[in-house]
Amino acid sequence: MSHLFSELSLKDVRLKNRIAVSPMCQYSAVDGLPSDWHLVHLGARAIGGAGLIVAEATAVSPDGRITPGCTGLWNDAQAEAWRPITRFIEAEGAVPGIQIAHAGRKASASRPWQGDAHLDPDHPEAWQPLAPSSLAFGGSLPRVPQAMTLQEIERVRADFVASARRALDSGFKWLVLHFAHGYLAQSFFSPLANQRTDEYGGSFENRSRFILETLAAVREVWPEQWPLTARLGVLDYVPGEQPLEESIELVRRMQAGGLDLVDVSLGFNTPDVSRVPWGEHGFLAPIAARIRREVGIPTAMSWNIREPRAADALIAGGELDLLMLGKAILGDPHWPYRAALALDRAAPYALLSEQYAWWLKQQ
Ligand SMILES: Cc1cc2nc3c(=O)[nH]c(=O)nc-3n(C[C@H](O)[C@H](O)[C@H](O)COP(=O)(O)O)c2cc1C
Repeated sequence: MSHLFSELSLKDVRLKNRIAVSPMCQYSAVDGLPSDWHLVHLGARAIGGAGLIVAEATAVSPDGRITPGCTGLWNDAQAEAWRPITRFIEAEGAVPGIQIAHAGRKASASRPWQGDAHLDPDHPEAWQPLAPSSLAFGGSLPRVPQAMTLQEIERVRADFVASARRALDSGFKWLVLHFAHGYLAQSFFSPLANQRTDEYGGSFENRSRFILETLAAVREVWPEQWPLTARLGVLDYVPGEQPLEESIELVRRMQAGGLDLVDVSLGFNTPDVSRVPWGEHGFLAPIAARIRREVGIPTAMSWNIREPRAADALIAGGELDLLMLGKAILGDPHWPYRAALALDRAAPYALLSEQYAWWLKQQ
């Protein structure tokens, strides 16, 4: 039996395998409402056999969207609209998860295929981005964000809590806090984006505060029995960023604050990604393994993993517990079935619904 297809139990959730659909924005919502597109996009990947399906970065407030097409959980109509999606995913034997997020200084942008840049401030759909400091990201995101007041920090924390409650109402059983990719929480942690001089900036303690307080507030409303996880940007690979040891210490404190798993990812606090060692097959694996070993917390990871044997080896080698698949499963919803065929010919049909399995077994 392959390692990729071994079960993973975390709290009261049991994943049938170690393959998760990584959160992937579809930029296809209107007023933050998920639609038939989201049902079919996520549902197809549940049919395809992934153990965990994580819905895209879903904004905790309208100003937390990356683009006008991002999904939300800031009102009850949105919570209602997610319900058929979680129902379908569960009926297919997968676990429904969702990532909640605030886009910070990267907010108010166009969809990738419509420019992937900040909307002009005069655009009818544009809004004022918020951030720890009034420091622009740069590149195609040149807008100078508004530095948040303490009241605004409190408001966004409360928005995370309200969205977590709604995620629960919608039937999600796995919550991912988006603390990566240069969005709001990540930009509080990164000295590349945070130049505050109050209790939310400067020292490691202060830069960690927004993340730890948000986690603690969400922990109070998210039930103990369902996993509370986070995607954390641990490195940007640019001069002037926090040392990796700080990111590891932050994970340690997050675990003490009730985090059940960390998805190790990149910072993306700068448009300069030239030093990221992209390579092939999981360049973040040594860091995920180190965090898993030193902190003793289950880890997940994505980035450039496409080949089943390489994925299986990462799980077998104890480097991570869960594979977050992005583009490979975007291109092929049946990646898990094909991986099962490649790794373990006896089990592949068990991944499929009987509507498909019966026929494919006859081949
Ligand atoms: C279309 C698309 C949308 C994405 N949206 C999100 C997102 O909402 N949240 C997130 O944390 N990462 C997002 N990502 C990053 C993926 O989750 C994943 O980590 C990344 O693509 C690397 O994995 P891969 O090499 O398997 O694609 C997105 C990636 C793609 C391709």
